[in-house]
Amino acid sequence: MSVMPAMEPSTVPARTALRRHYLMCRPEHFAVTYAINPWMDPAAGADAGRAVEQWEALRAAYVALGHEVSLIDPIAGLPDMVFAANGALVVGGRAYGARFRYPQRRAEGPAYADWLRGNGFAEVLEPEHTNEGEGDFLTLDHVILAGTGFRTDIAAHQEAQEFLGRPVVTLRLVDPRFYHLDTALFPLGGDNVAYYPGAFSPGSRAVLERLFPDAVLAGERDAAVLGLNAVCDGRNVVVDAGAVELIGTLRGHGYEPVPVDLSELRKAGGGPKCCTLELRP
Ligand code: ARG
Repeated sequence: MSVMPAMEPSTVPARTALRRHYLMCRPEHFAVTYAINPWMDPAAGADAGRAVEQWEALRAAYVALGHEVSLIDPIAGLPDMVFAANGALVVGGRAYGARFRYPQRRAEGPAYADWLRGNGFAEVLEPEHTNEGEGDFLTLDHVILAGTGFRTDIAAHQEAQEFLGRPVVTLRLVDPRFYHLDTALFPLGGDNVAYYPGAFSPGSRAVLERLFPDAVLAGERDAAVLGLNAVCDGRNVVVDAGAVELIGTLRGHGYEPVPVDLSELRKAGGGPKCCTLELRP
């Protein structure tokens, strides 16, 4: 009778980074002049110079990781345009355009659509339904997760599914601090995610548990510094430096955290992911 070999001690899987192409917008005109989410306080304002410095460090981090970064020109009078994630959803070379919920940001939709058309994306859909791009649509290998409840309409989930030919799963957000899906959840590359359960309705939490039994769960303290607004390339995770517990958990799962400080942009309710639109060929 053969003897079973001794079990290897359980090891953390090696993670592989894939080179990404990101679109970003320098926050030259950044300001907090209106409040469309609970993070924004026009009376307190924000410092555009400091925002630019922090944003430059984020861009440098992507470049140091080997990613390609393209830039769209900022437009005066659009202080939130730095949040490029909201500009579109680009999958398989097709771009599903944004249609913003609030009038203060509405002009950003066409601006991002024009950039995409001028930079090799022939198929850009001007959407019929309200949606804020990758703020509420997060792309995994087999499915696109889509948030609703504050900004993006469910009808847009269906519109995106039809246009992109990818299954879209609706998730309901219930906490106004986490008004976009990308403030509460991020893809870890491949088909896993990290998320803060408290941001979701009971039914959506059950859906997440069923789809992602091995998900990395984050607590309220990490969520409250926008730690879930992170960007993973499969191995490296660009994440707010204040999300200390989450950073430790990610390390334990074999990921390489790359902490950044975007505290000035957080005054508008945004973190690293908000500043980053992924262009998927
Ligand atoms: N002030 C912006 C807004 O409320 C912040 C957008 C943050 N972007 C994001 N992808 N979560 O629309």
